[in-house]
Amino acid sequence: MTSMTASHASDLVAALLFILSLAGLSQHHTSRAGVAYGIAGMALALAATVVVAAQDTSARVVALIVLAMALGAVIGLWRARRVEMTQMPELIAVLHSFVGLAAVLVGWNTYLEVESHGTAQTRIGADLLAIHHAEVFIGIFIGAVTFTGSIVAFLKLSARINSRPLMLPGKNALNLGALGAFVALTIWFTISPNLPLMITVTVLALALGWHLVASIGGGDMPVVVSMLNSYSGWAAAAAGFLLDNNLLIVTGALVGSSGAYLSYIMCKAMNRSFISVIAGGFGIEAPAGREEEQGEYREVRAAEAAETLAQARSVIITPGYGMAVAQAQHPVAELTRQLRERGIEVRFGVHPVAGRLPGHMNVLLAEAKVPYDIVLEMDEINDDFADTSVVLVIGANDTVNPAATEDPGSPIAGMPVVRVWEAEQVIVFKRSMASGYAGVQNPLFFRENSSMLFGDAKQSVEEILHALSTDGRHEATPAARQAVAG
Ligand code: TAP
Repeated sequence: MTSMTASHASDLVAALLFILSLAGLSQHHTSRAGVAYGIAGMALALAATVVVAAQDTSARVVALIVLAMALGAVIGLWRARRVEMTQMPELIAVLHSFVGLAAVLVGWNTYLEVESHGTAQTRIGADLLAIHHAEVFIGIFIGAVTFTGSIVAFLKLSARINSRPLMLPGKNALNLGALGAFVALTIWFTISPNLPLMITVTVLALALGWHLVASIGGGDMPVVVSMLNSYSGWAAAAAGFLLDNNLLIVTGALVGSSGAYLSYIMCKAMNRSFISVIAGGFGIEAPAGREEEQGEYREVRAAEAAETLAQARSVIITPGYGMAVAQAQHPVAELTRQLRERGIEVRFGVHPVAGRLPGHMNVLLAEAKVPYDIVLEMDEINDDFADTSVVLVIGANDTVNPAATEDPGSPIAGMPVVRVWEAEQVIVFKRSMASGYAGVQNPLFFRENSSMLFGDAKQSVEEILHALSTDGRHEATPAARQAVAG
């Protein structure tokens, strides 16, 4: 077998491993295998790259490639070990920005090294030259949009800049104008490639990427992260065309299309328009910015909450980002165990975008060994709240905001939410009256059947556990509970 055939064969096997990886990641119980397939595919792809490079280039270049890989591996391992679960989306955003930047650099390198030395025509052939020019231009455009878009996403997710949407006058016209200009510039570049056009498209795409993501509000950020994932895939595919690397084209297309599909599913789940989100909040007007008077809220202490829980017939726990910040999953799992031991029905209602990344809450609850069968999706449990004694909202805010269903003027209007307010009593665990990620006030806190348990969620749950263990009176019998409920 020639080295070229061996390299094609390894590309094919790696591509199949990536497809198996995506298939594995689509289900909970096969996700570990999915990750293993992905690692195997990437290891194979990297090894094949070094082997092919070793045949085509000097030992010095191979040494540089190996050095770059080793450096990348060390930095990657160091970051992966240190990153908190709550920081994953921002880390992913940074990684997407690297893919975008790499695509821009590959495009520029191809132009400067190949085009300007006049070797492109001999290597590619005159008839394919226009296509090659278009590849350079499109690769730079997608890469630069991904680069700055991902940086803005990182800044918003890490709360370094405000998560509110930027509302420049005529923002849709600006985005459409930039797209139109890109098409015109691409045609011009294929006819007569030159440096000023390269600079213009790079600056245009950097500005467009920044503006697209800056225009999207906090509540829609989960979709933006998966959309940038898709863009980074297309940027990698474009780089694959320029580098003549089939595996990069296939991998980029897999990431691009699966990211686009995930964005579509998330938009459907959150009742958002897919086109509107990928077009930088197209058609979304600035929220009215009203701060309505919400009235009074009630406060409870952990001991009272323990008493309420001990007398409950059924409890639903709705976790959110605050549970992750407080790392309260272990005491929450212990509370669940103790309440179930007392014969109280305990279930979890998980919103699809609770926390900061898809499946965030499920991972934390699984880590704390909460049984899978009592962890239900929002749609599975939403009709059961009206028949529930107590809901514990642990560090969730936007995902339990009734304004989404009741106030058409709210920035999160139309987003499906967990209908916790329908229960007999709601206890909200948080540290203050501060708003959630989307920056909107939550009328739930002011409802008559709601009370606030202020403090760090982990500490509050531990105080409840303490109160339950020290006060024998809380050992309510099923008959007593029936009396309370009835
Ligand atoms: P949020 O709306 O972000 O609210 C979390 C609440 O937790 C805050 O109001 C905060 O209030 C409280 N909190 C923080 N630290 C706490 C602690 N140590 N102890 C107790 N409470 C604490 O959370 P959510 O309901 O999970 O909604 C998620 C939001 O993030 C949505 O807007 C969603 O669109 C967005 N988002 C989601 C994703 C994905 S994919 N899941 C990705 C990016 C963004 P205090 O400060 O008063 O304590």
